Amino acid sequence: MKIIYDPLELQEYLKNRSETIGFVPTMGALHEGHISLIKKAREQNELVVVSIFVNPTQFLKGEDLDSYPSKNEADTKICKLANVDVLFFPTKEGMYLNDEVSLLAPKVRGYVLEGATRPGHFNGVLTVVIKLLNIVRPTRAYFGKKDAQQLNLIMLMVKHLFMHVEIIPVDTVRDSDGLAKSSRNVYLSPEERVEALKISKSLHEASKLVSRRELNSRQIEEKMREVLAPLEVAYVAILNREFERIDEIQIGNTVILVEAVVGRTRLLDNIWV
Ligand code: PAJ
Repeated sequence: MKIIYDPLELQEYLKNRSETIGFVPTMGALHEGHISLIKKAREQNELVVVSIFVNPTQFLKGEDLDSYPSKNEADTKICKLANVDVLFFPTKEGMYLNDEVSLLAPKVRGYVLEGATRPGHFNGVLTVVIKLLNIVRPTRAYFGKKDAQQLNLIMLMVKHLFMHVEIIPVDTVRDSDGLAKSSRNVYLSPEERVEALKISKSLHEASKLVSRRELNSRQIEEKMREVLAPLEVAYVAILNREFERIDEIQIGNTVILVEAVVGRTRLLDNIWV
């Protein structure tokens, strides 16, 4: 496995390659969720590139940028074991200048849900993702459905900016008790981890209701909030795959999303029905 730190060096290394390239951008502290993205990239492409970069522009002031878990050594081992060809470890200085061109998330879709709790967050996400995609120029790039709004906005960016990359959504990986894997789960105390299960349980409840043909969004949301109590719920949202609110579940075209705060940790989860 080749490890590259300099964006220009990586760009040069990958230039004029005839192989298909699968790319998995991450912020490190790799877990089974990330690994499933890497596996999918490995299956579908000749070359696999993984990036690890805790992107400062997507953190708001007062968020966990400085304490974000960092496990470079373990991450490198995981990538080697997963047969990654190139591991890209850029620095902040390599990726950003002081005064530079950047992207803005759409005014509505970038500022609802997680974008409402973290205004400006998606500007940083889109800016770093377009930089990474331009450096790597992959055939396919892999993103988790766990971050459904991020995935939706990246797909919009690729469409609106006429970019040449196929975005591949990957299913959410969970612990055996249902908790969605997240680098931020390490912040949870044992008691909080038990509380956090209410999030996946509320989604499980929603999917049970849907399978019993209870399709009214308001009723489903109410039942979910009962399961979630007493957690601080940032939002429960029932949307179609275009990310518009819907009053009735459309089976095969719906995402049900939750964001809740457990202790001091914000956790996201969703299911696609
Ligand atoms: P990070 O949180 O490290 O996640 C990297 C990728 O792994 C994202 O596409 C995310 O959706 C996916 N992922 C995380 N948990 C998952 C799980 N339990 N199952 C499946 N996939 C999962 O998301 C980011 O980094 C950053 O915003 C990034 C896109 C790298 C831009 O900085």
